[in-house]
Amino acid sequence: MADNRYIGVFDSGIGGLTVVKAIVESMPREDIVYFGDTAHVPYGTRSPRQVTEYVLSDVEFIYGFRPKAIVIACNTADSIAREKIEELYDVPVFGVVEPTSKKAALSTENGKIGVIATNATINSKAYEKAIAKYNADAEVFGVACPLLVPLVENGRFHKGDIVVETVLREYLDPLTEKGIDTLILGCTHYPLLQDIISELYPGLNIISSSVVLAETLKETLKEQNRTNEEEGSIRKYFVSDDADSFATQAKIFMGDAFDGSVEHVNLD
Ligand code: DGL
Repeated sequence: MADNRYIGVFDSGIGGLTVVKAIVESMPREDIVYFGDTAHVPYGTRSPRQVTEYVLSDVEFIYGFRPKAIVIACNTADSIAREKIEELYDVPVFGVVEPTSKKAALSTENGKIGVIATNATINSKAYEKAIAKYNADAEVFGVACPLLVPLVENGRFHKGDIVVETVLREYLDPLTEKGIDTLILGCTHYPLLQDIISELYPGLNIISSSVVLAETLKETLKEQNRTNEEEGSIRKYFVSDDADSFATQAKIFMGDAFDGSVEHVNLD
């Protein structure tokens, strides 16, 4: 048994490509359709009502490809609008928050977990609620890090970059002072900062939501015999703003794993 339909992935913009990269690396035969709402990025500074409105039009577009699964590659979208998507669509939905929380809850040794994410994700308390389901005693410390998305998008994620290192210390020192042993990277952009964070804070158990989502998707599709067994793969990328600038940035986020062409669509 196999299921050769698309995996439909969406995000507020470019960051969801860290999820696509992880999916491509672990399941190279899967066909993927991606939508990045670059006309409305960032979602992380917006109200829940506005995020939900954008997310529902993203999903409607992706659903048009009749995907076998919808992947919410955006932590903000998942934190705020997941229940609504599940209520409205009869397709399995995979998000970042649930599996990442489970992994953190079960792998922390001292029960102290830090979460870094956008303002909207932190305000939603989605990670706290999900972690409590797996480890009721865990203490969760969330920190909104609004400066990190623009820094990453401007290429400031290399070791030795004093600007990003200073900003990271500002956000993370208070967490390590609280004694966290586990840190959730609760935003699509943060996997690009993982190397710097592990250098600044050696020994910290760092969990990337993008990687955990891809692992969970793979396990589930395998268990259900719904992987794509066809040779080769199709990757389609759509964005709501300029396609060329997305293609240029995509190489930064995905490296050689970015192999598709990008098309502009207007969802308004
Ligand atoms: N994709 C968003 C997230 O993971 C980050 C960018 C944004 O704020 O839209 O939360």
